[in-house]
Amino acid sequence: MSDKIIVYYSRADENYMNGQLKMLDKGNTEAAAEMIRQLTGADMFRIEQARSDQNRNARPKLKSYPESLDEYSIIYLGFPNYWGTMPMAVFTFLEHFDLSGKIIMPFCTHEGSGIGNSTKDICRICPNAKVGKGLAIRGSYADKSEKEIEKWIKE
Ligand SMILES: Cc1cc2nc3c(=O)[nH]c(=O)nc-3n(C[C@H](O)[C@H](O)[C@H](O)COP(=O)(O)O)c2cc1C
Repeated sequence: MSDKIIVYYSRADENYMNGQLKMLDKGNTEAAAEMIRQLTGADMFRIEQARSDQNRNARPKLKSYPESLDEYSIIYLGFPNYWGTMPMAVFTFLEHFDLSGKIIMPFCTHEGSGIGNSTKDICRICPNAKVGKGLAIRGSYADKSEKEIEKWIKE
């Protein structure tokens, strides 16, 4: 077992690529998460909502959680930018755990807004975690971002 885990949210079925709604085989954030796994050997956990509604400020129920995050020191947290921040399901996830003392490394895919307010929101929810420099990847280029991801992991 690794002391690192990649926790991510990603949806293959609802994707804006250069302004158009597209169906993909694999979500953009998932593509980035898999590259991080190859580079770090970290464990992986996918955040899934029990229902697919995405109301602003709602806290959707999640299908499951990892039993514990105690053994992990680094959490790579991946998500698409939704309206300038993280999907609400990621808020639900972060609020479920006490992440004091953990290092959280946010990585985000987006279609133009970059990482938005998400880093600020993570710091607010997890005041005693160390939040590292976030990585923002243009969603449509996620599968071509290996070099960028590698550089970010090394830094
Ligand atoms: C509900 C919704 C809201 C979004 N809001 C933004 C946004 O505010 N800014 C942005 O740059 N991209 C936005 N996007 C685009 C996604 O961030 C982008 O397509 C991302 O790569 C999707 O990742 P995924 O395939 O892992 O789900 C939005 C997409 C959806 C479905």
